Amino acid sequence: MRVIGLNGSLRARLVLQLLAVAAVLAVALYFTVRSTADRAAEATQDAILGAATTSIAEQLRATEDGIEVDLAYATFSMLGAVAQDRLFYRIDIGGETVTGYEDLPMPETPPAALAASFYNQPYLDTDLRIAAVARSMVVGSRPVPVLVLVGQTRQGQAAIADSLANRAALIGVGFFVLAVPLSLLSAGSVFNPINRLAEAVGRRGPRDLRPVRHPTPRELAPLVGALNGFVARLRGALSQTETFIAEAAHHIRTPLSTVRTEAEIALRQSDDEATRVRLRSMIRGVETSARSASQLLDHAMVLYRSDQLERVEVDLSVVLRNVARAFEPTAELKELSLRVIGDAAPMRTKGDPLLIEAALRNLVDNAIKYSPAETEVQMVLSAADGMLHVQVRDEGRGLSGATMAELSRRFTRGGNVGDVVGSGLGLTIVAEVAGALGGRFTLEQRETGGTCASFSLPQL
Ligand SMILES: Nc1ncnc2c1ncn2[C@@H]1O[C@H](COP(=O)(O)OP(=O)(O)OP(=O)(O)O)[C@@H](O)[C@H]1O
Ligand SMILES: [Mg+2]
Repeated sequence: MRVIGLNGSLRARLVLQLLAVAAVLAVALYFTVRSTADRAAEATQDAILGAATTSIAEQLRATEDGIEVDLAYATFSMLGAVAQDRLFYRIDIGGETVTGYEDLPMPETPPAALAASFYNQPYLDTDLRIAAVARSMVVGSRPVPVLVLVGQTRQGQAAIADSLANRAALIGVGFFVLAVPLSLLSAGSVFNPINRLAEAVGRRGPRDLRPVRHPTPRELAPLVGALNGFVARLRGALSQTETFIAEAAHHIRTPLSTVRTEAEIALRQSDDEATRVRLRSMIRGVETSARSASQLLDHAMVLYRSDQLERVEVDLSVVLRNVARAFEPTAELKELSLRVIGDAAPMRTKGDPLLIEAALRNLVDNAIKYSPAETEVQMVLSAADGMLHVQVRDEGRGLSGATMAELSRRFTRGGNVGDVVGSGLGLTIVAEVAGALGGRFTLEQRETGGTCASFSLPQL
């Protein structure tokens, strides 16, 4: 037998319990009908047997020299009509058997006058139901006790009781068979509210952290209460995370940029070569930690926002042009030219604009960072096969044989980076955004030298 554990199916458990109850009821029905049928058949037999015995006792007539016994055929035919049972009788007058089977068992207590008493006794090869009637007759002015016994085999009674019990067994089995679909149905209806609650919670958007107000049966109230408590705590934790990301960005970047400015001033003012070397390495350290902090926070922001994705209509062309504009000063500083290629027609997709911007920012940042001066970075927009594509092409150092899978691992940087500052999180962010928005991302070395990063999102 398979024991359904705590983590098994509640539905299966309920169905099994309902079926067990149905089985017990069916068996109880069978035994109740069986004993009632037995009693009813016995009562019927007793009524006829009693009437026959009393009638024989009443037909005895006292004469001058004794008692005249007249066994009317009608009396026995009344008994024979009931079933094909065998009959035995015994008439005792004054304590002596005058006719019938003299070994027919006597009642344990003598019967009261003219009221038949009934008992079961084994006799010969069978079991008899016997009725006994006693009366007293006056023979020659002397009262003489008379006892009339009539016994009948019990096959007829048993046959009636059996047929009734068999019918009850059939009804019991039918009842049990009917209980199978009924218990499945009722188990289903018990779990309907739970399923509806689960559906209602499942249908919610990722940012929907309102308490659950779905109407539920009273028994589910503790569960819904606990769920709402959990949702409230989650809401608190999420808003703390959001605040943390924003505050950390501010509180880390600001002092670092102060340190950097101070170090740069000191570097300009210092003539001592050893100090200058130290200051330069300090500036580089500050740059690296500022970059790492900023990328870590960006990554945290991307993870947080892709977890509870908000999908709004975004024009990829606008986002890309804004990113390009933001990088204009950096590019100018490096004497690089930035060019957006593609018509100005809207390129609409659905997604979180902050995530898309983070991905594009990292691609353009890499293209600028890893390109020499006086080259061009092209950002090519196109649409094909239901996808919008952005290709960021540079004329830089290429990937030196490293694959995109390696480079987009967390904190992994290529061997080609030289003295370029970085944390190794940029491509991780791009790949994560592409995954969250149902897009694609690839990075390849161009045949003409340089790198081409392709980022695609589904077209709206
Ligand atoms: N346009 C590119 N040209 C050459 N190499 C690139 C280019 N883009 C990425 N790479 C290589 O891939 C590596 C991973 O890039 P990723 O942007 O993840 O990190 P990073 O640029 O080193 O650091 P950061 O997290 O600060 O962006 C880089 O270290 C570099 O080796
Ligand atoms: Mg990068």
